[in-house]
Amino acid sequence: MKPQLDTEQYIGTVTNDDFRSDVVEGLKKSPKKLLSKYFYDEAGDRLFQQIMDMPEYYLTNCELDIFKNKTELLAKSILIDNEPFDLIELGAGDAMKSSYLLEHLTTKNIDFTYMPIDISGHILEELNEKFSRDLPELQVITLEGDYFDMLDRAITISQRRKVVLFLGGNIGNMDLEESYHFCRELRRKLNRGDILLIGFDLKKNPQTILDAYNDEAGITSSFNLNLLIRMNRELEADFDVLNYQHYQTYDPISGACKSYLVSLAEQNVHIGNQIFSFEENELIDMEISQKFSQVDITKLARDSKFHIIDEIADSKTWFVDSIWQVL
Ligand code: AVI
Repeated sequence: MKPQLDTEQYIGTVTNDDFRSDVVEGLKKSPKKLLSKYFYDEAGDRLFQQIMDMPEYYLTNCELDIFKNKTELLAKSILIDNEPFDLIELGAGDAMKSSYLLEHLTTKNIDFTYMPIDISGHILEELNEKFSRDLPELQVITLEGDYFDMLDRAITISQRRKVVLFLGGNIGNMDLEESYHFCRELRRKLNRGDILLIGFDLKKNPQTILDAYNDEAGITSSFNLNLLIRMNRELEADFDVLNYQHYQTYDPISGACKSYLVSLAEQNVHIGNQIFSFEENELIDMEISQKFSQVDITKLARDSKFHIIDEIADSKTWFVDSIWQVL
């Protein structure tokens, strides 16, 4: 039996129809494109957990280093006179990193509500169970759906000052134009005094970056291929998964780290009653994981009219949590 939870849950509107129309639209493009936000079904969540445990995937450990060892600094940079506030986490996942901050704020008796937003209902259910077990004093409202839909929902639920967490380098899963649009849109939704704490994976030795997305065990490859399996199951598609190969690139000048699936043969794929043709070696653009320089970050903050009030990096300076405020 599921435990009784002292939490609230809001379920948004990411439907099978949205998934189907995004897939069909993307596969009509040239090059063909799928949206990486659909990676995260139950198997995708599990594979991403495995990625985070891989020795090559340094991002998690770097940001964990910040949240574990610089918790006090993080708390200081988001609190204003210990006033009550709402802590909204975009793409919370398993909240592994933010848990350190949540525990710290709870121990200090700060009045706040944690509102994790995630597209995966499955991961939010697990989160609810984890907090009701490990941190029962924490007030949690889970919000399942797209970032902005659920941010709007969060804003209607409470009028308190907002602190928005956007961790894990998730901003990197947008191309630069999208990330500019995203930050401007976020700024528009926030008020004076509100804070955005955003995690950036920094440009570094290109081989280190490429290795993080091209692991020898092939977990990243399975993570990408899983989207084909998901389409077969949920959209009556008939991808032959063995006929596609994961291919990763990193351009150290632009900072774009991109993953593709390569069609290993000329082949047709049915999705419901539609047919898509692939040439041999044709690519599907699967995901971007953009890397940033300090100059890139400053430009992004300035363009979206935020003020950088603090920057907290890990001990290797591979990753930075940049704290921006609406002044
Ligand atoms: C969720 N996101 C920040 C990950 C990243 O690093 O771009 C997703 C990922 N894709 C492959 N490995 C990890």
